[in-house]
Amino acid sequence: MRYGILIAFVLALGYGCQPESQQNLGNDISYDTTAVVNEGQKIAKATFQTLSSNLKNAMKEGGVEYALQFCNVEAIPLTDSLSNHHNVSIRRASHKPRNPYNTADSLEAEAIKQYIDKLETGKELQPVTYADENRITFHAPITITNSLCLNCHGKVNEDISKENLATIQELYPNDQATGFSMGDLRGVWTVRFPTTHFDSTKIDQLKK
Ligand code: HEC
Repeated sequence: MRYGILIAFVLALGYGCQPESQQNLGNDISYDTTAVVNEGQKIAKATFQTLSSNLKNAMKEGGVEYALQFCNVEAIPLTDSLSNHHNVSIRRASHKPRNPYNTADSLEAEAIKQYIDKLETGKELQPVTYADENRITFHAPITITNSLCLNCHGKVNEDISKENLATIQELYPNDQATGFSMGDLRGVWTVRFPTTHFDSTKIDQLKK
């Protein structure tokens, strides 16, 4: 199970692929796309592993009901502590958010739209990077590649039980994150680096 999810995630990230685009949104920051993709993938993967091992432990401990309560309290603090650790901003954003805090902003919404269009035409989803303001942004797709996810994000009454739906609605009165099927786009990872993150001296220091 554990490895299944990891492999699914690696596939979902298009791990090892070259990025499909480098856009520069109106300013002249130049950067090494490969370095940003490598670092973004590393950070998104580490965050996924932390979230998914915590989720699985919670499900083992108290089933879906308990895991819902657990994610409600812990998903964002866990992600934020990894942001602090890596000195970047990490988040999961969705066009159909459960937690309103994870609602896609306009740049994330654009990345999501492009991924959904690609999925429809059967194209492979790859990471995207771009520079805006004083930061460099990395996005990678989050797709539903494990049936485990459907317990809480699948179809109401088919995948999600009545009891669990009641818990979801109690915790998230404006929940939009149900009705997904295997292979659907659930959202995107966003890793935002300060432009100084890739200064050569810093990178040298990191290598030591
Ligand atoms: C036990 C139920 C449960 C399972 C299983 C589950 N999730 Fe979630 N998911 C949640 C909850 C609760 C949130 C909201 C967390 C918060 O408040 O920050 C969430 C949030 C998310 C978000 C952030 C965007 C949003 O809608 O707030 C993504 C992306 C996501 N889940 C993807 C997945 C994927 C992919 C899987 C399968 C690997 C999965 N989830 C499995 C309960 C679950």
